[in-house]
Amino acid sequence: MNVEVKKQLEKLAIEEKIKLCSGADFWHTEAVEKLGLPRIMMCDGPHGLRKQEGEGDHLGIDESIKTVCYPTASALASSFDTEVLESLGEALGEECQAEQVGMLLGPGLNIKRSPLCGRNFEYFSEDPYLTGMLAAAYINTLQKKGVAACVKHFAVNNQETLRMSGSSNLDERTLHEIYLPAFEMAVKDGKTRSVMCAYNAVNGDYCAENKMLLTDILRDKWGFEGFVVTDWGAAKDAAKGVKAGLDLVMPGGYGAHEAALGKALQDGELTEEELNQAAGNVLTFIYDAADKISEDTEINRLQYSELSADISAQCAVLLKNEALLPLDKNAKAAFIGAFAEQPRYQGSGSSYVNAMRVTSAIEAAGVYDVTYAKGYEANEEKTDENLLREAVAVAAKAEIAVVFAGLPDSFESEGFDRETLAMPENQNELIREIAKVQKNIVVVLHGGSCMLLPWLDDVKAVLCMHLGGQEVGMAAVELLYGNVNPSGKLSETWPLKLSDNPSYLNFPGVDGIVDYHEGIYVGYRYYDKKEQDVLFPFGYGLSYTTYEYSDLKIDKSRITDQDQLEVSLRVKNTGTCTGKEVVQLYVRDEESSVGRPIRELKAFKKIELEPGAEKEVIFVLDKRSFAYYEPKISDWFVESGTFIIEAGSSSRDICLSIPVYVEGSTELPYQYTFLSPISALRKTARGRETYDQIMQASAKGQEGQKAQTDALGEGAQKMQEKMFEEMPLGALAGFGGMSMEQLETLIHSLNM
Ligand code: BGC
Repeated sequence: MNVEVKKQLEKLAIEEKIKLCSGADFWHTEAVEKLGLPRIMMCDGPHGLRKQEGEGDHLGIDESIKTVCYPTASALASSFDTEVLESLGEALGEECQAEQVGMLLGPGLNIKRSPLCGRNFEYFSEDPYLTGMLAAAYINTLQKKGVAACVKHFAVNNQETLRMSGSSNLDERTLHEIYLPAFEMAVKDGKTRSVMCAYNAVNGDYCAENKMLLTDILRDKWGFEGFVVTDWGAAKDAAKGVKAGLDLVMPGGYGAHEAALGKALQDGELTEEELNQAAGNVLTFIYDAADKISEDTEINRLQYSELSADISAQCAVLLKNEALLPLDKNAKAAFIGAFAEQPRYQGSGSSYVNAMRVTSAIEAAGVYDVTYAKGYEANEEKTDENLLREAVAVAAKAEIAVVFAGLPDSFESEGFDRETLAMPENQNELIREIAKVQKNIVVVLHGGSCMLLPWLDDVKAVLCMHLGGQEVGMAAVELLYGNVNPSGKLSETWPLKLSDNPSYLNFPGVDGIVDYHEGIYVGYRYYDKKEQDVLFPFGYGLSYTTYEYSDLKIDKSRITDQDQLEVSLRVKNTGTCTGKEVVQLYVRDEESSVGRPIRELKAFKKIELEPGAEKEVIFVLDKRSFAYYEPKISDWFVESGTFIIEAGSSSRDICLSIPVYVEGSTELPYQYTFLSPISALRKTARGRETYDQIMQASAKGQEGQKAQTDALGEGAQKMQEKMFEEMPLGALAGFGGMSMEQLETLIHSLNM
């Protein structure tokens, strides 16, 4: 809090400061009349503005203003393109300005632990780095327009089942390596002005009262300077929350939280200083927002609709193409499926945007030779025989059938988790029946997360549009007919079956307790380590053109973890049309004494190339690219050794690789005891000295015994060596000729 805000805060009475820490109503902070400050509006998003002018609710039930609905986060992430996120952040910033909104409640940064999470469509990825990079890009441009972002739901909020009361239980390394980095990047790189704490508990402590999360990590470790707001209704004990680092309880207007804060102050459970800190953080936001909201920003929603269509096309992922796409512009095509007429373009819940219009594929395909049959009822699972028969007949008469299919609204949403990865059976049956009369089938998928495609071998092409926003129909047609070349990549692995997913045995937990036993092995980190086949890997997506990777280089072959490493490579468009390729850089630790994933994404870049054109792509890696989170030092740690840098077009299509030696600059502390194995001496400098001395002494003792040792044979020799390495230090007293006193002195000096 700066000096000016501090001065203003001093003018307020305790009651006024308490009021600042709780909202005025469903969507506003309290006005501060004494300081001439207005109330500030906060609104849901984040893939469009959900501004409710009338009664408030946080379930997306009451109507909000009509505006543009963009693709949801799971689609956006498949763009693998920070520029796409920047353009969205900027447009939303302008719109919030025009609508006098001071803060947009998003983006959602929770990691996709299980494909069953009902809210996965609102989240970016199973990968923390991808999530963090895209979030920071979005936040930067949104906030440049004077509108605060509010990253949510902090933290480890990865399912909807018992979301308001459950506890996500996990170890420290997993927390820091998988579930926190995206928030950290939003704070450090995006400079987010606000963080929304989640409903759930982490290891038994509710996020809204969790000092470790809200103060120790968020503010002390990451240097967060903004304010923390509860998820709507997440405050249990407001005073405990403020003490832990919470600033604003939402929604407000009921008085209960104010009363609790007042009582805690009276009882001495909360100090005025603690209250001042929270009230000051909220006041800083109010000053900032009041200053930036301008009355006369003008916006053009039609232009934003075009942006929505462009973004949607950048996010689509071409999953399969046996030379059927792009469609010939004169082809006789049958568009089949209810989603062709009424696309599924967003999900239900607090993010639900009241779209000003929705463009269907049927509308968008007006200039092409297209017939249509509905094929199935969107919200039914049972086949409607009449619709099926009609669709098969229409498909048989065309040269190509384009079937629009996927997950209906009732299959995924905020508030409940999915029960299955399967699509409704009526849609599966429709595709199978059409395949009997038509060999040229394209399936266009709508849905917020991965699904099972039991008919995959029966169709020639699959294009995934995700939940692509209000212009998804337009984007699909542009891609199908080749006016735009698909360039999206999956931000989430599609497994072959649900039980392959690492969280399968522990989702959604028992009685609200969810144990994250899979640890750091989430998404491709697990599938790769287990050498498991998947339907489509992380980072995968086809194009209408082809690319060739070459010339992977690093600027140094040996670095310390304090250095930066420049990695460069060349990518060439070897096909016949212009396209965009997402170049992905993964890092693998070749020799590690702790379990590590086979590869982790550490950089990516989307580049555009005309046919025949070639570009150099340069990445810079640093300590975090090689480090893992080491609980022994509560910090990131690089273990010296060789790392492999891999460049590829997906996590399972690595085109080039190159080794680099990285020397760690930190030594892990090690506490020696009588039970420490001899091999542990190698862990510290002092230990290594001792180890060398022991080895020298042992070699001396064995002088002249070479013939005997050789006669033992290789197995016995190996056994001897292994047993020696694993022998506890304490055994040196018996076998090593040391007295107990000498041993005690040795262990003491090793620990100094
Ligand atoms: C959701 C948040 C949302 C809030 C306000 C909650 O139920 O979890 O994501 O921002 O409501 O609508």
